[in-house]
Amino acid sequence: MAKRNIVITGGAGFIGSHVVRLMVNKYPDYNIINLDKLTYAGNLANLKDVESKPNYKFVKMDICDFEAFYQLMQDEKVDGIIHLAAESHVDRSIKDPFTFARTNVMGTLSLLQAAKLYWESLPEKYEGKRFYHISTDEVYGALQMNHPEGIEPPFKTVASSEGHKAYGDEFFYETTKYNPHSPYSAAKASSDHFVRAYHDTYGMPTIVTNCSNNYGPYQFPEKLIPLFINNIRHRKPLPVYGKGENVRDWLYVEDHARAIDLIFHEGKTAETYNIGGFNEWKNIDLIKVMIKTVDRILGNPEGHSLDLITYVTDRLGHDARYAIDSTKLQKELGWEPSLQFEEGIEKTVRWYLENQEWMDNITSGEYEKYYDSMYNNR
Ligand code: NAD
Ligand code: TYD
Repeated sequence: MAKRNIVITGGAGFIGSHVVRLMVNKYPDYNIINLDKLTYAGNLANLKDVESKPNYKFVKMDICDFEAFYQLMQDEKVDGIIHLAAESHVDRSIKDPFTFARTNVMGTLSLLQAAKLYWESLPEKYEGKRFYHISTDEVYGALQMNHPEGIEPPFKTVASSEGHKAYGDEFFYETTKYNPHSPYSAAKASSDHFVRAYHDTYGMPTIVTNCSNNYGPYQFPEKLIPLFINNIRHRKPLPVYGKGENVRDWLYVEDHARAIDLIFHEGKTAETYNIGGFNEWKNIDLIKVMIKTVDRILGNPEGHSLDLITYVTDRLGHDARYAIDSTKLQKELGWEPSLQFEEGIEKTVRWYLENQEWMDNITSGEYEKYYDSMYNNR
């Protein structure tokens, strides 16, 4: 296998850390550079098991720092970029949209321009190069929930052994028009357009993928699943937005990381691939599964933690339903999600309960001290 020099941005975050781990372990001949600013969401403790591998390097950098990134491209002879760094939480984007435009839009543009200048300066130009941008299905907008009780899904699913439902008859396809609603998804949509523009205008070999909601180990506990597992454990209220009727389509994070590896190596330039597991859940049903699982593992009587459910004011502009069709990826590249949802949730709940120290470090702010001691004076 040819040696490659690959920058993974946002590698200290949730999904990025799984992508870094997979690639460091799978490709000993690659030079894997984890580029991350270490915002509140970046946590090097997510990568303790790979940090001493010879093919791994961490670089603390803001993706908006054009000069620094251009220099890094030259120093490391970077030929591949897998771009995950972003501000990722919808609730934060509603309070602070500027930060989302800065990082997600300007940061992505800065990476693109630095990559363009460097690659175009080489004799072989864009040959053998790849700029792979990781995006979300939220750019497509929201789907109607026109079957609130659920219908038979039209697609093969590995999602649920208990019988899977679809809550509407529309799905997001690669051809679905962009219609983002939140500041988060508006910023991601804009960055997707810039990436495609660099292909269409300059011929840069780009790929964009749009994935559904991820869950699994190392997710920052502001997102629904880790937040609720932790709150159930500590008998804290579970803030359910609105009526808990919104539908999300959940994919185990390692399945996303496998898809990213496959698409980085075998995806067609300039293509878009949707990634998802055909696994729709109403928030309230998912919350009940989490409660049941945590209670069982902790030895509580069934239903013990149901009283923690607390209905709170709905999120502004809360998208009703996301449901993604990943048939193209499944047919063209042979990817499939590997886990049934019950297995994924069981693994996830057990991981958070067994890694309470990881969670406590975040909730107590200890992890920031860890960064300071390791990386501040480099
Ligand atoms: P995350 O918030 O857990 O991690 C983001 C990482 O990016 C952090 O390590 C953070 O330090 C880093 N970062 C933020 N701003 C930066 C900057 N200016 N410069 C350098 N690094 C910076 O996010 P995540 O959930 O792992 O999402 C990763 C990517 O996948 C994002 O682009 C997101 O839009 C996309 N995505 C996420 C989901 C999901 O369910 N989490 C689904 C589909 C797509
Ligand atoms: P989240 O994990 O923030 O992902 P996204 O907004 O990108 O889909 O939220 C998942 C769903 O859970 C979403 O419909 C909002 C809802 N939610 C709550 O009801 N309460 C909460 O405290 C959070 C964080 C989310």
